[in-house]
Amino acid sequence: MSDPRAFIHALPKVELHVHLVGSAGVDTVLALARRHPGSGVPTDRAELARFFEFRDFPHFLKVYWAVQSMLVDRHDIRTLVTGLARELARQNVRYAEVTVTPYNHLLDGMPADELLTGLAEGRATATDLGVSLAWCFDIPGEKGPEAGRETLAFALRERPEGLVSFGLGGPEVGVPRAQFTPYFDQAREAGLHSVPHAGETTGPETIWSAVRDLGAERVGHGTSATEDPALLTHLVEHGIPLEVCPTSNLRTRQVESIEKHPVGLLLAAGAVVTLNTDDPPMFGTTLEAEYLAVATTFGLDPAGLARLASNAVRASFLDAAAQATLLAEIATLTTE
Ligand code: HPA
Ligand code: ZN
Repeated sequence: MSDPRAFIHALPKVELHVHLVGSAGVDTVLALARRHPGSGVPTDRAELARFFEFRDFPHFLKVYWAVQSMLVDRHDIRTLVTGLARELARQNVRYAEVTVTPYNHLLDGMPADELLTGLAEGRATATDLGVSLAWCFDIPGEKGPEAGRETLAFALRERPEGLVSFGLGGPEVGVPRAQFTPYFDQAREAGLHSVPHAGETTGPETIWSAVRDLGAERVGHGTSATEDPALLTHLVEHGIPLEVCPTSNLRTRQVESIEKHPVGLLLAAGAVVTLNTDDPPMFGTTLEAEYLAVATTFGLDPAGLARLASNAVRASFLDAAAQATLLAEIATLTTE
């Protein structure tokens, strides 16, 4: 394929792993930083670009938390959601499951009602733009079982429209997945899907734990699965999709180069790979850029790209009718 860009754009796409705070566009972050001079986030564009150069994963999280701390009310949340929706519409992304971390916003002093109203208003605007949004509420793992308990209680008490899943983010090192088993059990009993991060910054044992202890229906990242053939076989046989975020892993220096990214091995092993952005402006990426990078590095043809887009549709928590509509549209593009 000479230049796959037009084909990638034409694919109706689905994004399954994007954090709301990490989706804040550069202009939005600059505007917030000017409103909150004490936050430590630069107010100058060039400085902000340097601020978004990450030494490692813990450094990335510190920067992420600094941006998060500037969000105070429904207007800030709505600004983020509508900014994300506009960007998704521009890329022909039709549906996204967006991760929100209520525990952190409440801890930073945002009233629950402000958060929920901002999400609902932003989601309505997204629908008008042709992008349907769903929510994943996730536990900030570094804050321990208390955060698990509170995130679950908030999710079940508020149960906002569009909430489909329950997640676990933050650092993995020193944060065993199994301590969150009771909260994931209750979330699943209440009908929320289990989508924890695992195997981004730690080895395959974390992914095993996410699957066995948290009932993971999809795995956030899951890239270290390539280090354990038995795990990889398990994921393939059970069709457990991986939310792979290649540029994120490069920018947090988990992976040295796109050529060395495990996504090539995951595809070769027949894993259900979905491509995602994680925190797009912070990592200087877009969903279309992720498809392009993987296609050019690993030699995917249009059928291979269409398979990735279809994987994301099937791995999503869209209902069967909405999935069928998107899959049919993808199929038309490859049979023309
Ligand atoms: N992993 C864990 N926590 C996060 C991430 C991530 O990739 N992005 C934002 N919070
Ligand atoms: Zn993530």
